[in-house]
Amino acid sequence: MKSTASAPGKIILFGEHFVVYGIKAILCSIDRRITATSEFLDEKVVRITSSLGSAEVSTESLDNLDKLPQKFMKPFFHIAKNAFEENSYGKGLNITIKSDIPHGVGLGSSSASCIAVTASVNQLFKKLTREEVMQKLIEAERTIFQQSSGADTAVSTFGGLMLYDLKNGFHNIPVKNRLSFIIANSSQTHDTNSVVNQVRKFKEKNEALFKKMCEKEDQILSQATLAINQNDQIKIGALMMENHALLKEIGVSTDKIELLIKTAQKTSLGAKITGAGGGGCIIALVNDSSKAETLSNLSDISDCFIANIDYHGLDYS
Ligand code: PMV
Repeated sequence: MKSTASAPGKIILFGEHFVVYGIKAILCSIDRRITATSEFLDEKVVRITSSLGSAEVSTESLDNLDKLPQKFMKPFFHIAKNAFEENSYGKGLNITIKSDIPHGVGLGSSSASCIAVTASVNQLFKKLTREEVMQKLIEAERTIFQQSSGADTAVSTFGGLMLYDLKNGFHNIPVKNRLSFIIANSSQTHDTNSVVNQVRKFKEKNEALFKKMCEKEDQILSQATLAINQNDQIKIGALMMENHALLKEIGVSTDKIELLIKTAQKTSLGAKITGAGGGGCIIALVNDSSKAETLSNLSDISDCFIANIDYHGLDYS
């Protein structure tokens, strides 16, 4: 018996970094997915195969993953271990992970893979609801990223557009806008934790300025929420550019990102970093008349692709 589940990647439309200091953020899931397929094995091992590498751990060693060279695989073994314990299962498992989301560039590939693996492994025993999947995997994700806010996980599980802040958690934005983006990869991998620490240092050196920037970001978020509700794409694009200017000012842009932004701004409705920056990806909002030209210009200098908002989230199939 095989069990398959998939989950989408995500982009941050507004609010990255400032969200760490209590400002709201707007995220959405995108139509690029990670698919996990699980099946029982008679051998007492958990075997994981993915495009980033393979690993095998005997079922007796699932408690001791500290020596595992592929750190990013720890949550998957953790998910398997929990499912074995909860269901008193004593044999093995084979998990295959396929991805069409670039890895390590802020597009939510680790959350999406955790969701897909949690749903697919558990479905072999009992199909979980979205809420149950999310609860289990916030725990699993924290085995690699201790400060996970859970925002990536929520948007990838439920799909669509989401408003998030530290105090109130996440809320679905109940509109079905057909926004299209070009996502361009700087091919500079980033480490979210170190870019977040870098911003903390910027804040500590520039407290008054940073306070003003948070106020500005807060205004951008209020206007963006309204513009999204009204599907005012011109306004959304203009606000993305304002948001990017703040991200540049706090020091999370790079020369390559600035080149991508400048190129995208020539033809798109607006462009900005998505995620932590320090590398990673930019997003450019496009409409039907600007899509082909923006894609063509960006593809001369980067790996890029078109992404639309995904409204499905976790999918069992
Ligand atoms: O690059 P990503 O997708 O990991 O996004 C990080 C977003 C930050 O606001 C920089 C950090 C956070 O935990 O919200």
